[in-house]
Amino acid sequence: MRNTEDRLPDGRSDGRRADGGSHPDETDDDDSPGCPGSLIVVSNRQPYRHEYESEGDDRSIVVDEPTGGLTAGLDPVVQEANGTWIAWGDGEADFAVTDANDCVSVPPGEDAYTLHRIDLSEEAVDCYYYGFSNQVLWPLCHEFPGLIKERGDWTNDFDWYRTVNERFADAVAEHASAESIVWIQDYHFGLAPRLIRERIPKAATIAHFWHIPWPTPETFAECSVGEELLEGLLGNDLLGFHVDRYARLFLECVERYLDDAVVDHDEWLVDYDEGTTRLATAAMGIDADTYDEAARAVEDVDALLEEFGVSPEVTLGLGVDRLDYSKGIPERLAALERFFERNPDRREEFTFLQKATPSRTGIPAYERLGELVRSEVTRINSRFGTDDWQPIVYTEEYVPQENLCGLYRRADVMVTSPLLDGMNLVAQEFVASCVGEGPRDGAAPGEPHGDGILLLSERTGAHERLGADAVTIDPTDTDAFAADLETALAMPASERRRRMRSLRTEVFEADLKAWMDSQFESIRRLHDPNESDDDDPGARTPQV
Ligand code: ADP
Ligand code: F6P
Repeated sequence: MRNTEDRLPDGRSDGRRADGGSHPDETDDDDSPGCPGSLIVVSNRQPYRHEYESEGDDRSIVVDEPTGGLTAGLDPVVQEANGTWIAWGDGEADFAVTDANDCVSVPPGEDAYTLHRIDLSEEAVDCYYYGFSNQVLWPLCHEFPGLIKERGDWTNDFDWYRTVNERFADAVAEHASAESIVWIQDYHFGLAPRLIRERIPKAATIAHFWHIPWPTPETFAECSVGEELLEGLLGNDLLGFHVDRYARLFLECVERYLDDAVVDHDEWLVDYDEGTTRLATAAMGIDADTYDEAARAVEDVDALLEEFGVSPEVTLGLGVDRLDYSKGIPERLAALERFFERNPDRREEFTFLQKATPSRTGIPAYERLGELVRSEVTRINSRFGTDDWQPIVYTEEYVPQENLCGLYRRADVMVTSPLLDGMNLVAQEFVASCVGEGPRDGAAPGEPHGDGILLLSERTGAHERLGADAVTIDPTDTDAFAADLETALAMPASERRRRMRSLRTEVFEADLKAWMDSQFESIRRLHDPNESDDDDPGARTPQV
């Protein structure tokens, strides 16, 4: 969604929220999603981006608003908390609307919280984001250590990563008080927790959620700055992962590579440098009701398919992914080729629609992946396609979220085949959007529902939650993958419906709000150690 905002005469907003602190004149709502202190969110991506809409001196400015995932989910929480959000200002007009402290009040016109933008130079972006974050940490954590070497000497990338982490830490210090809860998101900020710790009052709480996998100790050894990263992350009071496996691997790495750390594997605690870091797992969910409602609101699903040149008559397979080598797209194409080899009767009857979103373009591994995927689609289509039908319809075009929900709703089978994935939200989005042909108005969230089948890689965080009722796949075993697709398509309707009902129960119960509540509950317990574990429905620390 885009809002138009007039540019102020001096090119700046009035900066009323430049102090960035909480607003004493605004009462806190006790029914808010429950952040126990004054909230400061730190993330790489920002919730609102300002862009110029036209050329010239009087050009107007438009605002891109978050449409999905974590940013959209967190936005109302930060609004209710009258908090502060610190993020990279990557929009062309971002700094035309900020005040002298790089702050702007958002959402536009509502002024509910302060967005503090960090201005990064081209070199900083190249080294911090494209370099260390996405050509060292991303491949490391997704178990592609070979790709790190492609970057060559990444010393300068790490120096910039440290510098950018310092700049974010300085920004946090401008806003923090002893009551602050600093909540850091993801792998772009591996050094920030300790840097923030050094800059803010001791009583403030620092929590961090690591949204991607954590590597094995053997892979972690490929990163020569591993010790500094572990030290950085142990500046947190709380460190969250989606699933237990990643938390345990983190503890193993600390034990192996940080001599002075004391690891309690039973309680998931690490004592290091006069501080204690508690680990917790909580699988992130989605805003399931919104996907359900959006899918029900689609008037003409057939018209959506026709936009992609897909006949409404076909059995539909669907893939929706960022064009990332961790998503297992070539492996999926290989399985589809095997499927069409083995099932000639499915030709012209089954179509696979693959939506791929270009991502981190310019990084060689991503460029190569794009070329490989496009050429494999062309090859497979020329092998099996006819004048009227293509087995794989491939698009990199932007698909609005409501249309995406329509495609999820129409899909007979959704295929998510990552080689490794921290969570995987699209699998959950498919489930929440699987509403069948039920009434569009007046339906309770979750009811009625459809009978789509989810093929889900056993290597995703989502599999730990959804594996029992999905069809589990090993993305690297082409024959078995193709056979799993056959099984899914041959499954009786009653079995498909039973599975989808269970999947929906899981996705609706453990949704985005439940995940955030569990994070805040864990944080609250750090403030008051006497609070009982029984109060927390979502988060997990190990059973002893
Ligand atoms: P990752 O975080 O690695 O990209 P996830 O599956 O966890 O993978 O999340 C991807 C998010 O991006 C989902 O919320 C999904 O709906 C969204 N997305 C992916 N492709 C598109 C698209 N073409 N249009 C809109 N949203 C998309
Ligand atoms: O899943 C990890 C993640 O960094 C998300 O936080 C983000 O939305 C997604 O990948 C897209 O990556 P980027 O922010 O690099 O475009």
